[in-house]
Amino acid sequence: MTPIPSEPAAITLAMCCDHAGYELKNKIKALLGEKGYKVRDFGTHSEDSCDYPDFAHPCAAAVERGECAAAIAMCGTGNGIAITLNKHQGIRAALCWAPEIARLAREHNDANVLVLPARFIDPEVAVTVVETYLATAFEGGRHERRIAKIPV
Ligand code: RB5
Repeated sequence: MTPIPSEPAAITLAMCCDHAGYELKNKIKALLGEKGYKVRDFGTHSEDSCDYPDFAHPCAAAVERGECAAAIAMCGTGNGIAITLNKHQGIRAALCWAPEIARLAREHNDANVLVLPARFIDPEVAVTVVETYLATAFEGGRHERRIAKIPV
């Protein structure tokens, strides 16, 4: 799988959301496109009420299979979609509401999904969270050992 950070053109990012995250997903999707990333959008595709697992599971599976280097996901709080994504063995989804948390989610947790709390984050802050997430590498070392102990 292509590591992040990497040249945007080399990376396909997955996205998923529910109705509460739809508007923010579109904003972040446009940003990623401007930066040159390829985006695979697993939905939802409108503000109609829906169930986040319907979009989270296929999104997680694409990351697990290595088709997408990472994913960016959002629902109202971020919790429902993060809980769902983290049911997948190959997924480390981190709920981030500030750039510093996103930085540590990459450096320490090698998070392969960034989750945003769409109803509880300023959209401009969300942009800086995404930018930080995509610009930060995994530190490895002692964190590699800890991550290896996560799967049950
Ligand atoms: C939708 O109303 C809301 O429950 C959902 O977006 C999310 O916050 C669930 O965890």
